Amino acid sequence: MNKNYKYYILIFALSALCFFFIFKGVSLITNNSIEKQLKALNYNKQTIELIIDYDLTNYLIENDIYSKTLEVALLEGNYIADNLTDYIYFEYKNYDKYIEHLNGLKAIGYRNDEINHIFEHLNQNEIDQIIDQTGIIPNLTNYITDQYFDINNLERYILYKNDNTNYSYEKVINYVNMNLDYNFYEKIEKTKNPDSNIVIVNKYYYLDKDFIPKNLQSFGTKYAINNDIKATKPVIDAFIAIANDAKSINLTIKVVSGYRSYDSQEAVYKRYVDRDGEEKANTYSAKPGHSEHQTGLALDIYNTVLSFSNFEKTVEYAWVKNNAHRYGFIVRYPLNKEDITGYKYEPWHIRYVGEEIATYIYENNITFDEYYAKFLK
Ligand code: DAL
Ligand code: ZN
Repeated sequence: MNKNYKYYILIFALSALCFFFIFKGVSLITNNSIEKQLKALNYNKQTIELIIDYDLTNYLIENDIYSKTLEVALLEGNYIADNLTDYIYFEYKNYDKYIEHLNGLKAIGYRNDEINHIFEHLNQNEIDQIIDQTGIIPNLTNYITDQYFDINNLERYILYKNDNTNYSYEKVINYVNMNLDYNFYEKIEKTKNPDSNIVIVNKYYYLDKDFIPKNLQSFGTKYAINNDIKATKPVIDAFIAIANDAKSINLTIKVVSGYRSYDSQEAVYKRYVDRDGEEKANTYSAKPGHSEHQTGLALDIYNTVLSFSNFEKTVEYAWVKNNAHRYGFIVRYPLNKEDITGYKYEPWHIRYVGEEIATYIYENNITFDEYYAKFLK
């Protein structure tokens, strides 16, 4: 009996050993084949271990899925189970924070179509800023797909859109980029490059009190009503060219006002305020420091018969309006742009910006303020 007992134990132990090896063998074979299959899908060894750990094997093999995005998420230790299908949906982008960005945007609650737009239109730094926002930004896509979108103005776009729901997103961005979400003179800054032909001076950008343009010269009485009238050299040259060409078709244009110092603008403005009150004066006269006339690039012109304020009624104006751009001039305060320029229509006030920009502004029927916000800021 004792001997038999030992015998049974031996049989049992041997069978257990056998089963163990058979099981081990089978599992080795299966594991081997899992690894093979994952390898065939293109996953590397390290990723395969993680795939097995996270129990993703069946899903990936059955659906025949290779995803570089998933692979990187696993390898970086940034894999989030809830985002599995998103890793598979989004093609990998080769930069360090990609998975972090993807996880961050998903965590905020952006949809995949929105995330696609975010990756297409924003740089890494901008995406960081979107993720740093407290929550989801409704209609974010409508802002970021506009070519003039500026991430620094995002909050202002949202507020301005809320206040002006009938404005298109394009208009909201255009207007905010011109600072029009602030009242005129409410948010002012010193303009840059005051001696350049493309300097901006308006109700948001000013010139220093002591700024005097370089290259100021007199027009002479052939081109201006008196000898004191000045402008910068390129402006004088361009005006001589346009005035001579006008003359060749029997049209006369002359300058009544060119460069005005800060002090003379102050005097002009004060006179108008005393006469009409500040609110009305602001619709046609610039505060000192805010007048384009201080740049030496702006001219008020007339036809020598009617006063400059009647210039609109003249044949000279009809010609100037459609030809000034060829000489580098624009009509700076056009009709129906009062909400942008802050000034009533001034057909007589032309501004030198150079031929290329003047032509763009003319052909696209925009103001210099818009041009500046879009291309020069
Ligand atoms: N009349 C224009 C706006 C000026 O005062 O500069
Ligand atoms: Zn003027």
